[in-house]
Amino acid sequence: TAELPSWPYSRYIAHRGGGRLAPENTLAAMRVGAAHGFTMFEYDVKLSRDNVLVLMHDDNVDRTSNGTGPAAAKSYAELAQLDFGAWHSAAYAGEPLPTLAAVARYTVANHIASNVEIKPCPGREAETGAAVALACKQLWQGASTPPLLSSFAEESLQAALDAAPELPRALLVEKVPADWRERLAKYQCVALNINQQDATRDLIDAVHAAGYRIAAWTVNDPERARVLLDWGIDGIFTDELAAIRPAA
Ligand code: G3P
Ligand code: MG
Repeated sequence: TAELPSWPYSRYIAHRGGGRLAPENTLAAMRVGAAHGFTMFEYDVKLSRDNVLVLMHDDNVDRTSNGTGPAAAKSYAELAQLDFGAWHSAAYAGEPLPTLAAVARYTVANHIASNVEIKPCPGREAETGAAVALACKQLWQGASTPPLLSSFAEESLQAALDAAPELPRALLVEKVPADWRERLAKYQCVALNINQQDATRDLIDAVHAAGYRIAAWTVNDPERARVLLDWGIDGIFTDELAAIRPAA
């Protein structure tokens, strides 16, 4: 059995910062995550048209803001004028879109670890991977825990590896590919991040035996969380911060 890479991360990861309790991928979400005892957040990062790294999940701004259209077509100044909180609830009206730089300052200052998911605008896979890796290297300089970089986009992972090989990486997969060992080796990953539906005791054991960590998204059923943690999974991403959280 291979030796496992170091894993300075919590097994409980607040998905998009605050799960369902606050507007995803905002600093307000992260304050909610921190208030629920989470010491690690996952969030999605992409480039604005003018190359500012911002937190956003979708290709379009429609679902999570009062704007419309593709994020790729908007400058940071245009994105910064939108309201990214009102769609969730009135209490969050006016919440701005955060930059990766602002979130790095917040998380490092509060001793919170990060899983930065590289979520490129279509066609910008390689440049987003490189930009995220270079920015993270600088923003987390001197921090006790490096951010874990992950992506479904293998081009982004390759670019992150080329730009900052020293930062840990995870391969995100919608479905576990038969050649996961080869892919993890190719991008020099420390972890495989899977859909929780694919998590079995055998897969967890096989990934560990191959010398990698394994985490699963998105685990919103407390009983399922307990099972996966009992099986030895290294991390679960959850939206249910009240029901699935680290022990106080
Ligand atoms: O990184 C884990 C999870 O966030 C991946 O799926 O669509 O929520 O970004 P998604
Ligand atoms: Mg994500």
